[in-house]
Amino acid sequence: MKVLVTGGSGFIGSHVVDILRAKGIEVRVYDMVMPTYRKDIEYYQGSLLDLEALRMAFSGITDVFHLGAVADVKDVFEDPHASEAINVRGTINVLEAVRRSRGAVKRVIYGSTTWVYSEVTEQYVDEQTPLHPPAHLYTATKIASEYYCQSYSKLYNVPVTILRYGIPYGPRARDGAVVPIFVQKALRGEPLTIAGDGSQFRKFVYVEDLAEGNVLALKTVAQNKIYNLDGTEKVTIKQIAETVQKVIGNVKIEYVPARPGDFGGKEVASQLAKNELGWEPKVSFEEGVRRYVEWYKAKVATADAEWARVDQSLK
Ligand SMILES: NC(=O)c1ccc[n+]([C@@H]2O[C@H](COP(=O)([O-])OP(=O)(O)OC[C@H]3O[C@@H](n4cnc5c(N)ncnc54)[C@H](O)[C@@H]3O)[C@@H](O)[C@H]2O)c1
Repeated sequence: MKVLVTGGSGFIGSHVVDILRAKGIEVRVYDMVMPTYRKDIEYYQGSLLDLEALRMAFSGITDVFHLGAVADVKDVFEDPHASEAINVRGTINVLEAVRRSRGAVKRVIYGSTTWVYSEVTEQYVDEQTPLHPPAHLYTATKIASEYYCQSYSKLYNVPVTILRYGIPYGPRARDGAVVPIFVQKALRGEPLTIAGDGSQFRKFVYVEDLAEGNVLALKTVAQNKIYNLDGTEKVTIKQIAETVQKVIGNVKIEYVPARPGDFGGKEVASQLAKNELGWEPKVSFEEGVRRYVEWYKAKVATADAEWARVDQSLK
């Protein structure tokens, strides 16, 4: 068994790589950017837009996690044309490379999002809930990719598994998400600002739990299925701020008027993943924030040490 991870240098992909390696599974990363979090992985530099490069990278591969994408909704909003190419054409390129592998690649696991439910009217949703046309372009690219996965599965017998991730947090998260914003503000001694009363909730999923769910999806039962992988704890914005306050200490919380149209959140059921994959998130929100803070402080300390070394060498 040898697994290719597209987007394996990114936030979620890097944790999938870690768990695959911890299980002794051989891994090759396909990404535009070199993975920097560990040195023992095979890396193939290439774009999802380059079908021939993808085909070459598939040599000797048995399973693919397709996590390479423009994953930040703000980036998609700012450049919808380029984002559509990477997120949608990129997915069809992966599926086509698998089709042309003539059965050598046994599975494509596609990283989708629970945002696909954002326009449905029900408050409680599961994998059977019919989707509504999305308002956001990012979501449109994810739903289009899901449909391509299903078409390749039906027309060409390419075995696929679609995983709809909840909101991940943890080490290596990008800076623009709520937990990194609050933690970094708190470490700078700035107050944490909450719009409204802070009662809006989200369910977060700790990234290593999410990565574990990805690897469990290699099970045969997951072939041609969709699973939600969402957190179980409901965390309000107020609780996020209070958790950061508890972990870091000496942080002020300030309340400002609510913004119109703040998303209230939906209840996404992950029961199918529990029943069929044996997946359940294990890390509590407080523990996850603690691990993120430790990772972030270590990252800053390493960067500071590197600057000090450069400074010294210039003297
Ligand atoms: N982070 C989230 O909040 C979240 C939530 C739900 C679903 N997802 C999905 O999970 C997947 C991974 O997201 P992430 O948060 O790890 O994102 P990320 O931005 O950290 O990682 C994406 C990776 O894709 C690579 N990539 C981008 N364009 C490429 C191209 N043309 N060719 C090759 N590689 C390319 C990037 O270099 C990066 O390493 C994405 O499909 C995303 O839509 C993310």
